[in-house]
Amino acid sequence: MQIPSIKEARVRTKKETKMDVYKIHDNFKNIGIGKTYFIKTYGCQMNEHDSENIKAMLEEMSFKENMVMEKADLVILNTCAIRENAHNKAFGMLGRLKHLKEENPKLIVGLCGCMAQEESVIKEIQDKYKWVDIVFGTHNLDRLPEILVNSFHNPKTEIEVYSIEGNIVENIPVKRENPYKAWVNIMYGCDKFCTYCIVPFTRGKQRSRKPEFIINEVKKLIKDGFKEVTLLGQNVNAYGKDLDINYDMANLLKDTAETGIERIRFVTSHPWDFNDNMIDVISKYPNIMPYIHLPLQSGSNRVLKLMGRRYTKEQYLELYQKIKAKIPNCSITTDIIVGFPGEAEEDFEETIDVVNKCQFDSAFTFIFSKREGTPAALMKDDVPLRDKEKRLYRLNELINKYSKEKNDTYLHKIVPVLIEGKSEKDEQYLMGYTDTMKLVNVKAPHEYIGKIVNVKITDVKTWSMDGEIVK
Ligand code: 5AD
Ligand code: SF4
Repeated sequence: MQIPSIKEARVRTKKETKMDVYKIHDNFKNIGIGKTYFIKTYGCQMNEHDSENIKAMLEEMSFKENMVMEKADLVILNTCAIRENAHNKAFGMLGRLKHLKEENPKLIVGLCGCMAQEESVIKEIQDKYKWVDIVFGTHNLDRLPEILVNSFHNPKTEIEVYSIEGNIVENIPVKRENPYKAWVNIMYGCDKFCTYCIVPFTRGKQRSRKPEFIINEVKKLIKDGFKEVTLLGQNVNAYGKDLDINYDMANLLKDTAETGIERIRFVTSHPWDFNDNMIDVISKYPNIMPYIHLPLQSGSNRVLKLMGRRYTKEQYLELYQKIKAKIPNCSITTDIIVGFPGEAEEDFEETIDVVNKCQFDSAFTFIFSKREGTPAALMKDDVPLRDKEKRLYRLNELINKYSKEKNDTYLHKIVPVLIEGKSEKDEQYLMGYTDTMKLVNVKAPHEYIGKIVNVKITDVKTWSMDGEIVK
């Protein structure tokens, strides 16, 4: 048993990141014959991509995917720790699984992801959810086959979670969910330690993958018919800072663009590390999409300082203007937290002011959620819930107004759309995203799926648009 420690998770040393190569033991390859698995994924793209790795590892062990949780032999919850409601959802699901396990004692239940990295969660599982079979963390995903097999001989919960700074494991297999768009990890972890955020504790030290591994992965994806890659990391703009080779995100974007892949996106950016070279490369290469997610978090300098964000409102606005000047058609989206400890009405007005100045294409907005072990959890959470809710409501109204106004500018325009599949809203429609990441429902026959086509926008809503193919 190896349980996590919040104290150890905080440590950052100069130790070099170790690299390992995944290999499955031959003895494990038939373990899952005749059995099925179901994975429920919570949280961000990083988790979605981890689930793609978990699925592929299970399939190497001969398990088959089951879309119905109640019928599966193995259920894994890949959890998120970013806010309390993500926690509650996962624990709620564990409650449901308890009933399933009572009906079918052979059911194997596993928990992984960011919650597994939390000391308090592990204590709760050991106390109240003793029937969970396996728990593994974000640092040792690749150990799933061993952990699973070990649990067969262990009547107690098999727990293997490390709070180390983290290694990089190459060659983990992947079962990609989308045949046209692929996620590519470029780095793991985060060293920014924004005071509200649990990620540096759950995902460990910033570790960049070597550029050659990333570029080779992209080249292989092109061969396999993929049209789009999204370079993934908690703070992609800091890419390379931990490598000793004088190579940064601007270099990586350029080299990725030169592979010839049709579309490149990247998430998530921290304004602090967004340099001019990056903006130049994005503006120069047409296959780097004009879309940037640039979390603001707050418009108040006082709150930004309390959050440990390392930039001011003025610096954010300056960066925003610079991006817009060099990449005029760029769509910019953001993340904003309201009700951070000590946020006064005047601070919130500063946030509103930035939103009015930037007129974001869209935004994810959140009420501050206290995460145990983070510096902000020790600050006095003194904003009444009613005020937090009022601020969130007002902010969302404003964000939606600008989203609709931005979308209105697309009406009757012709834009490139990567058609991904059938639309959820109507069988006759297909769906896809523009270069600027706008969701478009397109009336077109199925043969267009997987192609980048020109679409004329015929109708515009707040969160989506309708269009027709231009021949
Ligand atoms: N409370 C509320 N929102 C948070 N985020 C991260 N941590 C917290 C927290 N403790 C938000 C930030 C981040 C996004 C992924 O989640 O806005 O950019
Ligand atoms: Fe969390 Fe992002 Fe800040 Fe890292 S940069 S601590 S992931 S909010």
